[in-house]
Amino acid sequence: MIKPHGAETLTPLYVSDDAQRAELTKEAEQLPSVMLSSGAAASAVMLASGYFTPLTGYMNIAEATSVASDMKLPNGLFWPVPIMNIVPDDQITDAVKNADRIALRDPNVNGNPPLAIMKVSAIESLTPEQKNLIIEKTFGTTDPEHPGVPAFADVGDNVISGSIEVLNYSYFPEDFPDTFRTAVEIRDDIAARGWETVVAFQTRNPMHRAHEGLCKIAQEAVNADGILIHMLLGKLKPGDIPAAVRDACIRTMVEHYFPENTVSITGYGFDMLYAGPREALLHAVFRQNCGASHFIVGRDHAGAGDFYGPFDAQKIFDTIPEDALEIGIFRGNFTVWSKKRNEIVMMSDSPHDADDYFSISGTKLREMLAAGEPPPPEIARPEVAEILMEYYQSEVN
Ligand code: ADX
Repeated sequence: MIKPHGAETLTPLYVSDDAQRAELTKEAEQLPSVMLSSGAAASAVMLASGYFTPLTGYMNIAEATSVASDMKLPNGLFWPVPIMNIVPDDQITDAVKNADRIALRDPNVNGNPPLAIMKVSAIESLTPEQKNLIIEKTFGTTDPEHPGVPAFADVGDNVISGSIEVLNYSYFPEDFPDTFRTAVEIRDDIAARGWETVVAFQTRNPMHRAHEGLCKIAQEAVNADGILIHMLLGKLKPGDIPAAVRDACIRTMVEHYFPENTVSITGYGFDMLYAGPREALLHAVFRQNCGASHFIVGRDHAGAGDFYGPFDAQKIFDTIPEDALEIGIFRGNFTVWSKKRNEIVMMSDSPHDADDYFSISGTKLREMLAAGEPPPPEIARPEVAEILMEYYQSEVN
């Protein structure tokens, strides 16, 4: 199987020994603590799960600016997005300032229990220039209208860096018991299925016909034994569809429209960054860590609004060193229903006249679903549309 990123084996930061974890959880209750931002808590879950192998914790400012500017850590490791624990001033108490070890509390779970223990290496203050640079390089913009920028810009200026030991996986196992999986579990599952070539698919949406077609086209193109549908389970921008609804849609679609035992449906606990090209690179890193041999990057991958060009997230793979990643990238062109071929095609494979393509806008699709009007089967499978209509109507009422 493909090797993890920058390591021989995965390095999950979850403390898997029960006795040791109980001991650390007890210690955490006594330690000075800080409340994590939602994004930093999600990063702890990714570190715990082995997805962010070989990182050992949160980056300091020198590491974060190096990653932002050059897509590598000062030690040379390729890494595309800063992984930071940034907190506001009120979290930097005297007790925290003087501590070697602190507890990191979970903002997303009732009672804010400790999520991890950190061995503090440094507490630094970000200058406005450093903050701007990190945001600009990561998101390609500092526009506060960008859905990911405020999650970075508004969390404070104090950077607490150091290695962590993670005590639990936050709300993910309880909320998504059938879907949340660690990178370790996914690697084990791929090995157990005997799959050698696996194409991974990132998604934050219910899967429409264009998504389904893209997966099938990619599977055929790379001759994959299996498809790993790997959905985001963390926080999204307002208006995006909740994970439980997307999960139900995807399971229904796979059950009806994919051959048995060719798809693994899983999810990971991270908040969406909407960082387009940089997030596509991060996505590729952690799919390599899952053991996937290939990763699909389609149109406007991890994008939002008009912040990125439709294929910017593919082009960025041409700018990284050849040995940065081992995972192969399947670049998907626009997938759309072809009336002539009566199936989903990639426009680049099937350059018919524009009349041949059947599509409706996302806005129109949402309006139809909210009105309880089944969308055309060329756009959404009826079983999937059923679930979405129910969801949109419950939102309206
Ligand atoms: S994303 O933010 O997770 O990228 P989404 O779930 O919509 O959003 O997309 C998942 C993957 O499918 C991404 O690789 C995206 O580029 C690709 N994709 C979605 N729709 C299309 C389409 N019509 N044509 C080509 N690729 C698409």
